[in-house]
Amino acid sequence: MNTNLSSSVPSQLETDCLVVVVLDRNEKDRSEKKEDKPVVTAESSDVAVQEAARDVISSGEVTGKTFETTLLHRPAGLKAKRLLLVGGGKAKTFSTAELRKLAGTAVRTLKSKSIRSFAFVVPETAIPSSQGLRAIVEGAFVGNFDPGYYKSDRNEKEQKIDALTIVLQGDAKALESAMQAGRVVAESQNFTRDLVNEPSNRMTPTILAERAKKMAAEVGLNCETYGADKIKQLKMGAFWGVAQGSDEPPALIVLRYDPVGAADKVHLGLVGKAVTFDTGGISIKPADGMEKMKYDMAGGATMIGTMRAIALLKPKVKVTAIICATENMPSGKAQKPGDVQIAMSGKSIEIINTDAEGRLVLADGLSYARQLGCTHLVDAATLTGAVVVALGYVNAGIFASDDQMYERFANANKQAGEKMWRLPLDDEYKENLKSNIADMVNAGSRWGGAIFAAMFLKEFAEDTPWIHLDIAGTAWTEEAKPWIAKGPSGIALRSLVEFVKGWES
Ligand code: BES
Ligand code: MN
Ligand code: ZN
Repeated sequence: MNTNLSSSVPSQLETDCLVVVVLDRNEKDRSEKKEDKPVVTAESSDVAVQEAARDVISSGEVTGKTFETTLLHRPAGLKAKRLLLVGGGKAKTFSTAELRKLAGTAVRTLKSKSIRSFAFVVPETAIPSSQGLRAIVEGAFVGNFDPGYYKSDRNEKEQKIDALTIVLQGDAKALESAMQAGRVVAESQNFTRDLVNEPSNRMTPTILAERAKKMAAEVGLNCETYGADKIKQLKMGAFWGVAQGSDEPPALIVLRYDPVGAADKVHLGLVGKAVTFDTGGISIKPADGMEKMKYDMAGGATMIGTMRAIALLKPKVKVTAIICATENMPSGKAQKPGDVQIAMSGKSIEIINTDAEGRLVLADGLSYARQLGCTHLVDAATLTGAVVVALGYVNAGIFASDDQMYERFANANKQAGEKMWRLPLDDEYKENLKSNIADMVNAGSRWGGAIFAAMFLKEFAEDTPWIHLDIAGTAWTEEAKPWIAKGPSGIALRSLVEFVKGWES
């Protein structure tokens, strides 16, 4: 999708469709006074635009409700062929996160009507214009992603918006750079979604490693990929315990970003779970819904996409990503419940459930990140069904061993407009890790399962400040939304990019 800026007066712009946000400026709480009607306004200072929207608004057809769309043809007084009004809800609570979704909604509404280009008028709200612009670019790219890769009648060109004009006033240079930053982040998010969308026969650990290598060469990152030999040589017994059951070779992917001028004392480590298919292993999963376990590599794909964005945005922070890629299969070579594995750190693990494999591959990924000198660790993983029980499909789970690091991440997360919620790591939960035969078990009781998994990982992050993101419920959008298709969401990438930028020296 091409993106460009225009400072033209909206009504004078020639475009297939002019998109204008409408807000409800009635600040009264409607629940108190039922007859209190919305005060809907088209958010442009161009009187001609307000005029063009006047009738449809005064008729009551347009209420300003969030994601409500109204398409008018040949709007009077405008050079645009069409006018699309997109509802943004109450003006008082309108935020950047909403604006991002409205841009996605506009894309999805228009592309379904075979419209290929449009112009989005940045609403004049309290949101700073460069921030609003970035959000619109991000939302538009996210909305343009279509997961139907293998439909034989697919014509990619016909399914996508190919040109977006953003209409606003401001310092051209600053706006141009905000637009480019938005593009980089959104294209990286879609790059991640692309990896996650592929089924496991087309996204093996080897293929994932190749895709990481290719991306790294394109953006100038250092990338090393290793196989079983290196995993064994590093004594990654937990990672290998999972990988040994599969005929597909595992891959350890290391991406390094080490810019000149970065401070020596900060070295961020991003560790990702990339189980390209999770059958559960010998503790096999039920057939119902198992096909979805192709997205069990979303954490790893998120870290690869994050590194892409970082390489292009060039913050002065040293970052290394470690992605542990493998299948989790039952076979004659597979690990069995009761087996004991010795992790890279030297700690022994009794395997109670072979389906609790993500924490095993991450355990060694975290140890390796520490060995490489990382001073702060973040991992992302589709780790537990239990986090979905706790937070549903709305929020990802955040766990943090260090409050200061959490504050930094929470700020980044807010900026990025992604929903996440902190869950606890009290010492009391450590009881559950006890094993009769080894240092710890890999799975315990049903209760507090997401916390158990995080407590397990904490044993391997040790004293290095660490954040764990459990994205099992959020990495896959279960139902299409106005702004996003059903399928891979690319959750956490934007927060991670903001988080990394926050350490810039
Ligand atoms: N990959 C799954 C977690 C998952 C569940 C991801 C649902 C996405 C959607 C993970 O490897 C797993 O199987 N976890 C088990 C752990 C249990 C055996 C302790 C789970 O959550 O059931
Ligand atoms: Mn599993
Ligand atoms: Zn898994």
